[in-house]
Formats: sequence, C-alpha cells, structure tokens
Amino acid sequence: MGLEGFSGNESILYHLTSPCRVKELGDFEPIKRDEWVPDAHAHRHMATMGLEPEGDAIMGRRLLMWNQDVEISLCRPDGEMDYFFRNGEGDEVIFVHEGNGTLETIFGEVPYGEGDYVVIPRGTTYRFRAEGEQRYLVFESSGLIEIPRRYRNEYGQLLEHAPFYHRDIHPPTELHTHRDQGEFAVKVRIRDGYQTYVLDYHPFDVVGWDGYVYPWTFNINDFEPITGRIHMPPPSHQTFQGRNFVICSFCPRKLDFDPEAIPIPYHHSNLNSEEMIYYVSGNFGSRRGIEVGSVTLHPSGIPHGPHPGLAEKSIGQTETHELAVMCDTFHPLRLTKLAKKLDDGKYWRSWSEDRTPAAANADEDPAGVTSHF
Ligand SMILES: [Fe+2]
Repeated sequence: MGLEGFSGNESILYHLTSPCRVKELGDFEPIKRDEWVPDAHAHRHMATMGLEPEGDAIMGRRLLMWNQDVEISLCRPDGEMDYFFRNGEGDEVIFVHEGNGTLETIFGEVPYGEGDYVVIPRGTTYRFRAEGEQRYLVFESSGLIEIPRRYRNEYGQLLEHAPFYHRDIHPPTELHTHRDQGEFAVKVRIRDGYQTYVLDYHPFDVVGWDGYVYPWTFNINDFEPITGRIHMPPPSHQTFQGRNFVICSFCPRKLDFDPEAIPIPYHHSNLNSEEMIYYVSGNFGSRRGIEVGSVTLHPSGIPHGPHPGLAEKSIGQTETHELAVMCDTFHPLRLTKLAKKLDDGKYWRSWSEDRTPAAANADEDPAGVTSHF
C-alpha cells in the first residue's frame, strides 16, 4: 500500500490470502451530517465533558465541525467494535483524552493511553480494543496528516530542534498473524460513506511488513515546548500539518522570560483561519467558563484574545500548566447540531463583562496564563 501512485511513501505487506478476496458485498451507508447554520457569526464555547457515551470507536464518532479538509468529532465509545474498520479516503489522528487500550491493526498492535495522538494513515485496517472509559477528539482528513515539513531534514529525519524526536514516535509493537476462517466484516470509509465487505478470512493475515506507511502514536506530554524571550505564536506549538489545517499542542512550559514581557498572547485576528481549541487539562478557571473538555471556536474575520484583566494578571507569571489541542483551519468550519446543543450561547459576550479583581489567591493560581487563546 502506498501514496501518490508508486512514488510516495509505501509499505509492503505479506498476506496469506489475497487482500482482494471478498465473500459478500454488504451495505453502503452514506455519511449524514446534521448541519447547524447559526443565525450569527460569533465566538463559541461548547462544554463537552457531559457528553454521554455512545456507540463504538468508529460509529460513535459525533461530528462537531467540519470543512472540505478536516472533520472534527468527539467520541466516547462504550461498545466494542464487532467489525474491522479501514478509512479508505482519509488519514486519522485520534487524540486520547481519557482511556487506554490497544489499536489492533494489520501492522500489529498499537498500544495507546491518555495523551496519545494515535496516527492512522488511510488504508490501515484496524479495530479498537478499549480498556476503561474512553474519550477521544478525532480528526479525519481527506488530505494527508503529516509531521510538519520544517521539522524534517531533506532525508526525512527529524531535526534536533524540532519539538519531538523519533524516539517519541511509537510504531506497532507485536504483529499477530491470524489464520482463522469464518465471517469477518470490514467497514471501509469511502466515497463519503461506509461500505461493508464480508471476508471469509481474518483480515489480519499479514506475516510481515516493512515500509514507511504505518500507524503510530505520539504522546502530547512528549512535545518539547518552545519558549522565547517574547511571545511565540502558535506555529511554535505545531504538531501535525494537514491540507489547509494544522494541529498544535499547548503543553506545560516556562513562559516568555523577558522582564518586560507580558507572557500572555496578544489580541489577534486570524483573517483566514478558524481556530478550534480543545482543553485537555490544567486550570482554566480564569478563562470565562472554560473547563476541561471545553471547545472554543474563534472563527475567521473577527479578533479574539485575553479576557479583560488577564494580561495584567499574567505579568510576573513564569509558567503555564495547561494542556490543550488546537486545530486551525484555513477554510471556514461548518457546525453540526451537536455543536448547537453544546454551545453555551454566551461566550461571545465574555470580553465585555466587567472583570472583578482577581481573587485573593489568584496570584498563586496560574489559571489564565496560557500559550494561546
Ligand atoms: Fe487565537
């Protein structure tokens, strides 16, 4: 399996059975998206922690926002997959907020845990085997999701000043070759839908493989944050590049160290970017209403930045303890009815509310000191 005809990255897999062999053609289920077109263009905040578990790791993905380049879903699976899945038209990055387990794949086992980005290239047949409660933020893209080009040298090796290193990339571990016969459903996402195929052999029939296309994990806690004397903008936090979008990791770090620095991001207007931030852990108490599991969406065309009082409060702070995942897209994001249900409807107003002076203990509380809004 490979990319760009026979010119891109590829892997060679040695199968026991022809991978073309299909016993039955199952159903095709088109993907339906329940769009919500808001009445007004505004900043939004959605609280997602209360989302009830539902479905499995594929069909339980609940689309929150999307455009032609990326789909961003929440997933709290509580059911086992009784089929195998392959994304035939997109790369996937699954950020594991809660839970652990094993992604069983045709390349072998990929153990995952909290804080992992599970990177699954298109064409990978897999099945989640979850342990415990699970909570994911899922990115699916019809373009490639890659390590940013500027982190790699001309041979593809990660540069030493990149914020992660090849030792932080965890490829599949054990390969289990299955020789069972029977009925095995493989659901393939293709043509904006799911086509089910029934095989009469276990799809994990590979006895060995090598190459450059395979699933892997990278843990957000292994991201080495970059700090400057003055504010470093979000590209310094970039973790993945997609087609017309980026994924960034905001990790605990020392803040800007110039004695005159205001170590909090300035107001900004990303004229052609939409900015989605998912808050993973840390104390966000000084950001109005933001909590673990919150999603903020700062759409293009209007400015955003720190809430009143926060810039002053940040002076003298030396570190931030937050963990957050951001996706910036270069084309507008459309919202779903799930986004409508979770939207608090008042976040847009939060910059004009009177800011009461910080609480007495606020100076010891790093809340509100952040790498990005
Ligand atoms: Fe921003």
